Order: sequence, then C-alpha cells, then structure tokens
Amino acid sequence: MSANPFLDPTLVHGDLYRGDGRLADRTHAMHRAKISGSDVADTIADLLAARVPAGAAVLDIGCGRGTTTLRLADRLRPWRLIAVDASAALLHTTRDRLGDAGALGSVVCADFHHLPLPDNVADATVAAFCLYHSPTPAGAIAEIARCLRPGGTAVLVTKSLDSYAELDHLVHAAGLDPHATSRPSLYESFHSGNLLTIAATNLTVLDVQHEEHVFQFVDATHLARYLITTPKYRITLTGGIPTLAAALQQRLSAPPYTTRSTVSFAVAVRP
Ligand SMILES: C[S@@+](CC[C@H](N)C(=O)[O-])C[C@H]1O[C@@H](n2cnc3c(N)ncnc32)[C@H](O)[C@@H]1O
Repeated sequence: MSANPFLDPTLVHGDLYRGDGRLADRTHAMHRAKISGSDVADTIADLLAARVPAGAAVLDIGCGRGTTTLRLADRLRPWRLIAVDASAALLHTTRDRLGDAGALGSVVCADFHHLPLPDNVADATVAAFCLYHSPTPAGAIAEIARCLRPGGTAVLVTKSLDSYAELDHLVHAAGLDPHATSRPSLYESFHSGNLLTIAATNLTVLDVQHEEHVFQFVDATHLARYLITTPKYRITLTGGIPTLAAALQQRLSAPPYTTRSTVSFAVAVRP
C-alpha cells in the first residue's frame, strides 16, 4: 500500500470511487463551503471555447460524475464527446446526467494510461483533478497527446501541494490524527508546482493559470461532512458524521473553519 492514499490503486479503484456517493458528498460539502474562486467547469469550458470550434471531438478524461463533461456538452456543442473513467459507477452517473440534460455523449471505462482510442481522434481533451492519482502522470499525458490531433488542445487541471493544509492543523489540534500535519500531500504526483514540467513532456504548454480558492465550513457538522470523505487522515472515531462533528465542536475553537487551495489550469497543444 502506498503512503499516499491518492496513489494507492486498491483505494483509488476501490473505496474512493467504487460508488458515486463519496465523491458526491465531498463535492457537495466543498461547493457549499466555497467563498471564492471560479467555477472550475466554467473556466475549463471558457479556455476551450476560446480555442476549439463548435462541432469538435472532445474527450473528458477521469470524468468522475460528469460535471465538467456536461458543461463541455453545453458550451462546446461537440459532434463527439467521450467521457473516460476507470470507475464504472461514476460513468453510470455521467451517462445518466448527460441523458437527463439531453446531451450527446458516450462513456468509456478505461485506465487513462492505456486509452482504448485511436490516434488523432480528438480536437480537445480535458483531464481535471485526476492525474494526481497516477504515480506516472507523464505516461497518461503521453496517451492524451497520442489521442489529440496535431494542434489539438489539452486543458489539464490540478491543485497545489499545500491544498487544505489548514484542515491538517485542525484535525491535529482536535487530537483526531497525531500525524495529520506530517502526511504527504494527496497531490504530490501532479500539482501546481510540477504541472508545467510534466505537461511539457509530451505537449507544448501555452499558458498556466493559478487561482486561489477559499472555503469556509460554517459549523462542525459541515466540516465533518467533508473530513469523512477524504482518505488523508486516520481518524479512528466510530459513529460517522454525528460523532465526528461532536468531537470537532468540543475540541476546536468556534467556527467558521477556513481553508484554501490553489487550482491550476494548463492549456497545451499537441505539437
Ligand atoms: C476527483 S475525481 C475528478 C472528477 C472530474 N474530472 C471532476 O473534475 O470533477 C478523479 C477521477 O479520476 C478517476 N481515475 C483515477 N485513476 C484513474 C485511472 N487510472 N484511469 C482513469 N480514471 C481514473 C477516478 O475514478 C475519478 O472519477
């Protein structure tokens, strides 16, 4: 087992994304907490809309629950939209959401290190918040480059190494995990600081933008709802959200609890 849960294949292809619930709960808690920073799916769609004409072929790699996929369908009106993920359950959600929105799109269950797609198939490819699950993200980027036509555009999105560091201190201060502040960043393999270098292994990087996102958890229950979904900590309390919220409320100073993450966007083309 890897020391970093985001790089542990048994977790990534098991508890983390086997079902739709854990990712949905985490996303919901973070959206509720967000007080500053753009809507990431909108920013991705804006970056691509500026470079990709309507009627393009678009891939969304590591699509998760399909939030970005839906936005791409709406904004870019591609003639072909393929959402790829290793999780069959998340692809099911993506397919249902595309269907509910009346959007055209197909889903492919695959590992992003070995895309079952022909060379030069895409005009544009997105990989958002997924390549930090790879111990060898340059290998996944080589696959993305292979599937792009020459001149095709990739938008790669990740977070900073120090994302949510304030929460490490809160978990430590609450006595819930004595090693919370010394664990490696979940984003250590692909983050704001190495995004450019890794993207440049197979693509020509045109631009990298960094944006600070700030989150405020309004009370202990809100914070517990997020903490219960992250694999970073070893919290041994049993009893789920109510027990965790009670412990946080008792041991921390009054809310709100604020944390930050830098979200980084690279726009790159296949040479
Ligand atoms: C945090 S979610 C990101 C979802 C989405 N891109 C978004 O921005 O909301 C990470 C996704 O990467 C997928 N993933 C992780 N490792 C993968 C791999 N080797 N191949 C394909 N998908 C993978 C997971 O199944 C999960 O859906």
